[in-house]
Amino acid sequence: MSVFCQGLFEGKVVLVTGGGTGIGNVIARTFGEHGAKVAIASRKQVVLDAAKEELKANGIECIAIACDIRKPEMVALVVNEIIAVWGSLDVLVNNAAGNFPARIEDLSANAFKTVIDIDLQGTFNVSKAAFDAWMKENGGAIINITAPYENFGVAWQAHAAAAKAGVVSFTRSAAVEWRPLGIRVNGVAPGGVLQTEGIDRLQESLTNKPGAGVYVEAGDIASAVLFLASDAARCITGENLYVDGGATVDMTKMAAYES
Ligand code: COA
Repeated sequence: MSVFCQGLFEGKVVLVTGGGTGIGNVIARTFGEHGAKVAIASRKQVVLDAAKEELKANGIECIAIACDIRKPEMVALVVNEIIAVWGSLDVLVNNAAGNFPARIEDLSANAFKTVIDIDLQGTFNVSKAAFDAWMKENGGAIINITAPYENFGVAWQAHAAAAKAGVVSFTRSAAVEWRPLGIRVNGVAPGGVLQTEGIDRLQESLTNKPGAGVYVEAGDIASAVLFLASDAARCITGENLYVDGGATVDMTKMAAYES
């Protein structure tokens, strides 16, 4: 049972990038279960269509649009379509990300750039589109899914750690610039989330396996996102909320990568 009241996001429109699978899908569903109309956008239409059917089967109003967040013109089309159909865009969750475990010596310039382009440039692209088309005039809430990496060195994750540190920095700057317009911008930094593609792939390079580290569930991330999107967080902006079960505050619980 949810700790949030059922109609908390009644009448609100939420866009979750990468909402077809994994954490993004759980975030989208959780907003929908609390009354929001939910738009999901990611690269593969077939994945989106399946996710949309599932959301609709649960009584959730949903739009699913294929989009590569690296392409600003595609992003603008998505945002404009949502506003054309539903008349607003109250909450943006920048969840879409690309990652793979690799040592720096095995990263080409294009490999590094690809992750920066998806995670950092993509977050900028969608935030800017939401700002231009709706939030500049009407306010809103943006939640960026970050990573608990910006204060640490993380082997096998130099590309993703750099990209996500950039997202944290962008979160803070956008929070400052857009505060007078009633737009709050926050981050949620998930620790290792069980049963997601990202952690499954990363675990191939982990030296300590599940049980040694601290793992959280996608629903824990969704709860933090809903809180930050809600009026309960109306005075919170520019924050990056760690949802990692205490893994980063306890050095002995940090997932260790081979280096
Ligand atoms: N190790 C080193 N380099 C890798 C790599 C790996 N495991 N996987 C991809 N790359 C490199 C590619 O070789 C390429 O570089 P090159 O052109 O110099 O050869 C570059 O990264 C781009 O890869 P490509 O597959 O062409 O890019 P894409 O845009 O189609 O997809 C990702 C990029 C990140 C989305 C893709 O790697 C992927 O599907 N990842 C898994 C899914 C995912 O990211 N889920 C989210 C988890 S948080």
